[in-house]
Amino acid sequence: MGDWTADSNEALTLSLVRSKADQEALGEDESYEEFHPTFTYPIYGDDEKIYGYKDLLIDLRLASGSLTQYLNVQYSEKLPSSSTVDDVEGTLAKYIPEGYYTDETEFEKRVEEDATSFKPCGELIYSYTRPSPSKGKGKGAATGKATAEDDIVYEVYHMTWDTPGFREYHRKMQLFILLYIEAGSYIVEDEDSWEFVVLFEKRKRPGSDISTYHFVGYSSLYGFYHFPEKTRLRLSQFVIAAPYQKKGHGSQLYKAIYQYVLSKPNIAELTVEDPAEAFEDLRDKNDMEMLQNHEQFISEAYGSLKSAGGRVGGVGRAGRSGRGGGALVKGKIGPPADKTWVEKWRKDLKIAGRQFHRLIEMLILLRLD
Ligand code: ACO
Repeated sequence: MGDWTADSNEALTLSLVRSKADQEALGEDESYEEFHPTFTYPIYGDDEKIYGYKDLLIDLRLASGSLTQYLNVQYSEKLPSSSTVDDVEGTLAKYIPEGYYTDETEFEKRVEEDATSFKPCGELIYSYTRPSPSKGKGKGAATGKATAEDDIVYEVYHMTWDTPGFREYHRKMQLFILLYIEAGSYIVEDEDSWEFVVLFEKRKRPGSDISTYHFVGYSSLYGFYHFPEKTRLRLSQFVIAAPYQKKGHGSQLYKAIYQYVLSKPNIAELTVEDPAEAFEDLRDKNDMEMLQNHEQFISEAYGSLKSAGGRVGGVGRAGRSGRGGGALVKGKIGPPADKTWVEKWRKDLKIAGRQFHRLIEMLILLRLD
């Protein structure tokens, strides 16, 4: 008999493919090829099984920047065609744009071309750098010197349906939503209120002036009317490509979105639609860090020691009036928290109500510890 059933999460193998020169420049621990999805049930059905093949491999490759796609299905044996044998390629093809490559040599040629011609569309809104992982080898290793020039730059671009080239790009990257977000689904393209932020790695090719861009992840946000004349931005989808996960890039993308929200006078607040647990943790961690680094907020929240000259001193649970004749200004988060004060800060910081109250509770608990 033999086993004619394959696990579709294992069979589907994804790669973010770089040009040869860019591939050679990668650090030893860097790998962007042959990773697997977390979910395939939206494509291959609830049991995530594919019937009718032996040694099934669904080889889906995307050019690392342009996300141009290549799809090839391989197997060692297939049951004679019958209604029970799944159409592996035809089923997946419904979820990726038409015109994907099936010829490997043609695809590789295109990867080389795209590597230098692809540039993100939209408006650059945020960036950060990381030391290059390839510093450990080659010239840098011999001298032990690391220069800022070797750093990898990460850039976040803001895009809408009106951004030239974005619709086509979105049709290629949206597959990550189905493959990594539980209950994720494609959004309706013609709804105007969508906005997007896309994170790219920008890497200098060694020994040349060429910079290449590589897709890291993205988030889609939906603008709702907020009385009387503002917008409430709801974060709807958020995904970091698997090879980049758990390296702090999600936190950076979230920070980029938050900074963007703060910078726009017409946006009243940022909310999140049905967050997954991992995203909730990421959000809590970043929001807490932001609040704890906000000097004025923290000194008002926890109270402070005000000297006769009016200077605000350290916070903490110091003695009632403190040494040196200052007066203790009582903290606003109590408990109980001063509701008017909480609401004023919530609005200023543009954080959604439920989340802000959770954050206040966490701050109270931290202080009680
Ligand atoms: N489980 C629990 N916590 C997590 C996880 C996880 N799998 N991943 C990240 N976190 C939390 C942790 O608190 C982490 O901090 P720590 O590692 O210092 O403790 C913090 O997030 C920041 O980690 P980053 O490295 O910045 O997160 P990453 O780049 O991996 O992005 C994300 C996190 C977006 C969840 C990513 O792993 C991903 O894309 N997962 C698949 C898709 C997904 O679940 N998206 C969210 C859906 S919800 C929505 O779209 C609204």
